[in-house]
Amino acid sequence: MSKQTQIRRKTVRDISAAKGGDPLVCLTAYDAPTATILDEHCDVILVGDSVGMVVHGLPSTVGVTMEMMILHGQAVMRGSEAAFVVVDMPFGSYETNSDQAFLNAARIMKETGCQAVKIESGTYAAGQIRHLVERGIPVMGHVGLRPQAVNVDGGFRAKGRTNAERDRVIEEAQAAEAAGAFAIVIEGVAEELAGEISHLVSCPTIGIGASAGCDGQVLVTQDMLGLFDWTPRFVRRYGDLRKTVDEAVSQYAADVRARRFPSDAETYKLPKS
Ligand code: KIV
Repeated sequence: MSKQTQIRRKTVRDISAAKGGDPLVCLTAYDAPTATILDEHCDVILVGDSVGMVVHGLPSTVGVTMEMMILHGQAVMRGSEAAFVVVDMPFGSYETNSDQAFLNAARIMKETGCQAVKIESGTYAAGQIRHLVERGIPVMGHVGLRPQAVNVDGGFRAKGRTNAERDRVIEEAQAAEAAGAFAIVIEGVAEELAGEISHLVSCPTIGIGASAGCDGQVLVTQDMLGLFDWTPRFVRRYGDLRKTVDEAVSQYAADVRARRFPSDAETYKLPKS
């Protein structure tokens, strides 16, 4: 009789339990093959709305839609079996009120099968977080640099440089925690402030460009793989995918132009004539 091993997907309890323990490993994915590779290594896979910029060529995450998040969330769920999968709520899908947030978050949960949603949570969003959590939807908060607010900020700007800004980021994180967020992404703040927030809140913090003081780190996978010619300063490049792809495509183009194809004999295993 064959022995089947059932892989257990991580739950919100596993993620919460990581507070103060081993750092949480988190990366973004938007498609099934990437999710399959990340699954073995990551505690959390984030289907980030960065998909708008990374995959769809948008200038910011503002243009990302529910349909995009659901399609990419479904692909990542198909490609993974162990990681805890979080799907971003896109700009315009939760800000109006708690009812709007619940209808859209429930749709994401039902149509993708993901384990949680993430909300870029200014203090105003605490009501929405509480509403979702009380109704069965785990929420990850996101404070500091909030890319969906790029038009108010006039660009992607680090946060916490002034005392007022520091206080605001701390307030956002504490509001998210008090509302029931099970974890909080802290983006674009100095390490010391990230450390202070991580100390103040009892849920795990996951840093992006804020990392050593946090309970884990998240990066955009394509950034750390070096797919783009530009990488944010805080990202260590673990690969040079752009060069690898460029060299492979250039070799392919040269082969096609020189009519260097596999022979029928190789392709179809035909007897050599
Ligand atoms: O959209 C995203 O990828 C994010 C980050 C935290 C990486 O929100």
